[in-house]
Parts: sequence; C-alpha cells; structure tokens
Amino acid sequence: MTDILIIGCGYTGRRLADRLVQEGRTVTGVVSGAAGVRGLLDLGVKPLVLDLDEPESPPPPDEHERIFYLAPPPDRGTTDPRLQRFLGRLGRRNPAPRIVYTSTTGVYGDCGGDLVDEARPLNPTTDRARRRADAERRLLDWSRESGGEVAILRVAGIYGPGRVPVEYVRGGNAVLRDEDAPFSNRIHVDDLVTACIAAMARGVDGQAYNVSDGHPSRMGEFYDLIADLTGQPRPPRITSAEAEGIMSPGMLSFLRENRRIDNGRLRNELGVVLKHPSFREGIPSSLGDRS
Ligand SMILES: NC(=O)c1ccc[n+]([C@@H]2O[C@H](COP(=O)([O-])OP(=O)(O)OC[C@H]3O[C@@H](n4cnc5c(N)ncnc54)[C@H](OP(=O)(O)O)[C@@H]3O)[C@@H](O)[C@H]2O)c1
Repeated sequence: MTDILIIGCGYTGRRLADRLVQEGRTVTGVVSGAAGVRGLLDLGVKPLVLDLDEPESPPPPDEHERIFYLAPPPDRGTTDPRLQRFLGRLGRRNPAPRIVYTSTTGVYGDCGGDLVDEARPLNPTTDRARRRADAERRLLDWSRESGGEVAILRVAGIYGPGRVPVEYVRGGNAVLRDEDAPFSNRIHVDDLVTACIAAMARGVDGQAYNVSDGHPSRMGEFYDLIADLTGQPRPPRITSAEAEGIMSPGMLSFLRENRRIDNGRLRNELGVVLKHPSFREGIPSSLGDRS
C-alpha cells in the first residue's frame, strides 16, 4: 500500500516526492508521459503514467488518503476540466482523501501594488488565472460534497536549481526599469515543498495559504543579482512602452499585474520557516546546484 499520491510529479512534485521518501513515506507519482518515469524510479517513487485529459484513462488508484495535486490546468479556456475529471474519478471514497492543491497568486489579479493576504477577494483578469479560480472553486465544492478536506496553496513564481533565468540574462535581454515595473513575488522550490508538507499536516480544511517568500521586489533587482553571480553584464532597462514590442506576451501579461504577497498565514499558521527568505539567499544556492 502506498500512502501518498502526487498528481503532477514535475519540477516541484519530484522534489516533494524526494523529501517524502527521505522521511520514510511511500509515494506514488503521476506524470502524463513516459519521459518522467526513470527519474521517479531513481528517487524511489512508484511511477504512474496517467494522462488526466484522456477520457479512457483508468481512474487514479484508490488507496491513498493524502493527495498532492500539482498538475496545472490545460492551456486554454476559463475552467479546469482536467481537475474536474480527476475529482469526478475519485468517486465516493470512504474516507474521502485529503488534498493539498497548488494554485497561483495570479487569482488575485492586479492589486495596484497592495499588500495582499488571503482575505482579498479573487479577481482573475486573465484566462490563465480564471482557470485557477475555477479549480479552487471546484475543489471547495468537491470538499463540501464528499467530506474530503482540501488546503489550497496560492503560489508565487517558483525558482530554484535549474529554474533561474540565466539564459535570459546571458542573451542580453532587457528588463523593465523600476519606475515601470510591478512588484514580483517568488518562492524557492524547497520552501514550496516545505509548505506543501505543512499544509498536508496542519492546513485548515477549506483554507487558502499564500506561498511566497514575503520579499516582493522589482524584476531588475532579481536579474541584476543573477548577472552579478554569473559574471554577465546587468540587463539593460526599458520602459513599459518599449517592452510591448520586445517581451513575450506571457511575460507582458505577468508584468501587467502588481501586488505584494503577504505570507503571514504561511509562517504563523502553517509554521513554515523559510530556508530562503528572499532571492538574495535562494539564487546563490540555486546556481551552485543545477540538479
Ligand atoms: N512555475 C511557476 O512559477 C508557478 C507559479 C505558481 C504556481 N505554479 C503551479 O504549481 C504547480 C507545480 O509547478 P511546477 O513548475 O513544478 O510544474 P511542472 O514542472 O510543469 O509539472 C507539472 C506536472 O503535471 C503533470 N501533468 C500535466 N498535465 C497532465 C495531465 N494531463 N495528466 C497528468 N499529469 C499532467 C506533468 O506531467 P509530465 O511530467 O509528464 O509532463 C508534470 O509532472 C503547477 O500547477 C504550476 O502551474 C507554478
């Protein structure tokens, strides 16, 4: 019998699985394709290839009492049918499982630079964020109907080993000047893993928790540090008008939203002690270890 199921064993899921295996847990990790199987076996995780978008795929195994759901919604639309299908396939289990779900801070939309805690009403302004808000709603509905418990993590930008934009800096790409840049919020992947485990252990049913290091910054500072640590010139600064013709639509859409994420509930209620309280601590170790 395996006691923990991780749906979406990608960048964060693999690290979460690794930590849980180190703690002596038995873990099954779901990936959508065979490419991720070898890496899971190497970690001592039981791999399961299951494409949640495939109507004919088998239901998830039913022996797990704890489920971490880290798979993103599909790329299009304003809802998350992937999660909906998964919840439908859980059926009426007794007892119903406990789920920790990784959402994003994007559900708050643009907050004009305000400090944002979990009481802030959701205001998704992009389809990407609407899909997340839909997923949160579906989970709460599932919880009410099934009696299963759910804790929602609203996660800021994830960085860590292998997830630092070194190539962006090396390519001489520009960043917004401070006057035009919104705040960006980040979390080191290892601290996100700690938050996932704390939410499974102590998260209040139906509660959302912001997962951010609590040190919002302008993008320039972040990229300057990467440049300094990798021996590259600091990125040139541009205005937001100049960025329109240069930056990718995805990046531009992130830069249209401005908020500072409050992580008080993460620290005070889940009791998470961050190993990387800002990118100033997190980037050097991430560059040192590219695993
Ligand atoms: N990147 C960020 O800055 C950020 C910020 C906030 C929240 N998040 C969210 O946090 C979660 C973890 O992020 P991450 O960067 O660790 O994600 P990731 O590396 O992209 O991993 C996603 C995992 O979901 C699996 N998956 C995707 N579609 C699936 C499907 N149809 N059926 C089954 N499995 C499927 C993938 O399978 P394969 O391994 O086979 O591809 C992969 O294992 C994601 O939901 C992400 O959107 C990310």
